[in-house]
Amino acid sequence: MKKIDRETVQKILDTADIVDVVSDFVSLKRRGANYIGLCPFHNERTPSFSVSKSKGICKCFSCGKGGAPVNFLMELEQMSYQEALRWLANKYHIEIKEREESEEERRQASEREQMFAVNEFALNHFRHNLTDTDTGRAIGLSYFRQRGISDAMIDRFKLGYAIELNDDLHNAAANAGYKDEFLERTGLIVRKENGQTYDRFRGRVIYPVHTLSGKVVAFGGRTLRTDKNIAKYVNSPESAIYRKSFELYGLYQARQAITRADKCILVEGYMDVISMHQAGIENVVASSGTSLTDGQIRMIHRFTQNVTVIYDSDAAGIKASLRGIDLLLAEGLNIKVLLLPEGEDPDSFSQKNESGTVERYIRENESDFIRFKTRILLDEAGNDPMRRSKVISDILRSISVIPDAVTRGIYADECARLMGVKADMLHAQLKKLVTDITYRQSLKQQADNAKSSIADLTPQQIQDASDDAADRNAAVARRLRPYEEALLRLVLKYGNYAFTTFADEDNPQEPTPLRVTDYVSGDLDADEVSFSDPALAHVFQCAVDIIRDEWPEERKRFICDLEKRMETELADGRRALAEQGLSVADITRGEIELNERVQREFDESIAGFDADFVARRATSSPDDLLRRISTDMIAEPHQLSKIYTRSGHVASERERLADLLPRTLHELKSVHLSVELDSILAEIKIAQERGDTDEVMNLINRMMERKALQNEFAKYLGERNLNPDKLPGWE
Ligand code: UTP
Ligand code: MN
Repeated sequence: MKKIDRETVQKILDTADIVDVVSDFVSLKRRGANYIGLCPFHNERTPSFSVSKSKGICKCFSCGKGGAPVNFLMELEQMSYQEALRWLANKYHIEIKEREESEEERRQASEREQMFAVNEFALNHFRHNLTDTDTGRAIGLSYFRQRGISDAMIDRFKLGYAIELNDDLHNAAANAGYKDEFLERTGLIVRKENGQTYDRFRGRVIYPVHTLSGKVVAFGGRTLRTDKNIAKYVNSPESAIYRKSFELYGLYQARQAITRADKCILVEGYMDVISMHQAGIENVVASSGTSLTDGQIRMIHRFTQNVTVIYDSDAAGIKASLRGIDLLLAEGLNIKVLLLPEGEDPDSFSQKNESGTVERYIRENESDFIRFKTRILLDEAGNDPMRRSKVISDILRSISVIPDAVTRGIYADECARLMGVKADMLHAQLKKLVTDITYRQSLKQQADNAKSSIADLTPQQIQDASDDAADRNAAVARRLRPYEEALLRLVLKYGNYAFTTFADEDNPQEPTPLRVTDYVSGDLDADEVSFSDPALAHVFQCAVDIIRDEWPEERKRFICDLEKRMETELADGRRALAEQGLSVADITRGEIELNERVQREFDESIAGFDADFVARRATSSPDDLLRRISTDMIAEPHQLSKIYTRSGHVASERERLADLLPRTLHELKSVHLSVELDSILAEIKIAQERGDTDEVMNLINRMMERKALQNEFAKYLGERNLNPDKLPGWE
């Protein structure tokens, strides 16, 4: 495909003015520094849609939609990224230069890009096999036909076929100039110990896995044989561009429908997603057979709060996945559950029925998760009082992970009603569960660790242990998240602003500027701390990439243009001075002032450019996740308490970065530390119970070290008793 070339993209993004663009759709009134109007994304009578010219974004403070010009257009007009860019280019009469990638560019592209390029090539090759080769048509295409998949869906999901040969893809890729290295890294070819290679996907239909922004990161290949000894699916391995726990199959194709319906339907398999789409139900994604991960859940949460999980009617599967649902609840999502009729899965069900029927079935049969779980467990327990009381504690456990107290209360009442017990009693038990949940989790982990060997455990115990580990990670991530968000907000908002300087040993005369993103990533690396929330980690990495790949070049260009502008301004100023008929002394003084003023403007413009760069690029990025999170963070109105500097003026957040940044980093690290201390404490308890004094001593020493470090942090942060679970206190 022809792409808009990078310079044109930048020109478009730099030219597009948010007030101007929004005004094409909404009538705006000036209010203070901003503009307001009626939100175009939902019906309202009083305006809550606000446009900030300086931030370059708009946002509805009622429904939350908005963003930079590109995002605004994409959401409002359901445009793709490229379409939005073309629309803007047209509006501002910017000539679009397009380009094909040249050999040289391909060589220079970063490794990740090369991996994406290889995957893109493979994708096209597999698609070509499916539709344009005799074997592909005879085997692959007829398979999809037989399963009732339309050409439109084959196109939409870019389905393909891998020829049953050891080197079909390898040869084609080599001929097109792709290196083995990247074919291997993406897992498309596999190298044996003796150095020989073979294609990973052979004689299989291919389901590509897309990221949110539409890049292909992996493939799933389904065998067409019925032989039970052959793996049904072969999947791409994890790689630098594919982290399985971050991707959801179908999210790329489903994201707009999810936003529109404000609901996401979760199914199990590739085919389920595709058949549902074909039936007109497009807000569907698949977890691809494995249990849901934290990262996947957060992905969903960026788009909607409402999730409906569809199960086939086989009971074993349901019970196994009940625990996974607790993760969704813990994330604060509203979960509904739907059982399909006996013997059906979403694929077969949507192939058999009209789309209206499927939709109606979902609407009429989805039920609230807590109610569903109660019913399933109760059915199983029958009238046995012991088992019934176990059901109660199991349900309470699920309820206890829900973050919102009001929702917890409603569910406890509901559960009491269903179980025929007193609501007061459930509330009391629930309260206890909620308060000691974290402590219990860390103890349990240590207890599991202490068990002699994994071989002694039953599969159920292993499952429980790993479920607990997942719960615990989620709990820790929840604790860290506010701090990670606070830090990321500063990174996005201030980009690579030089907030302070440090003396360079080699060159003490010329202090080196210390820049926000550089400083934060250096500091995190030094302490081996990274973002635990996958979405935030992704955004942070994007910010680092933007600084590394785009900022230096563009800064040069910006400075070059700026210098020209400043030259003109200087020349104009001098001319004006000369025309006033002043004395030589006055002219000299005037020129000095002029020079100083222009120099100040120059410095301030560059500082502004450095500070805004990441924000501007991130809020207009083709990467949906990056665009959403950065827009939210930058739009967030942040009230500063008034901090007066010595000279008496109120310090802005930007002026306070030299204090705010290290403080925010310290706060994040001290939460990491207190998480670690909790787990050491739990370990000590277990070692004591075992009577292992040596181990107890070891652990105590480790604890003392950590405590000392924590005291240092506390001293730094200026508090005796550090309360790390409090939000950073700059408000
Ligand atoms: P299913 O066995 O239900 O497969 O596994 P399916 O997608 O419905 O395929 P059809 O209908 O038989 O063609 C559900 C999902 O689990 C993953 C795949 O993502 C699959 O879509 N899976 C299953 C694997 O990754 N490997 C396997 O061997 C099996
Ligand atoms: Mn299936």
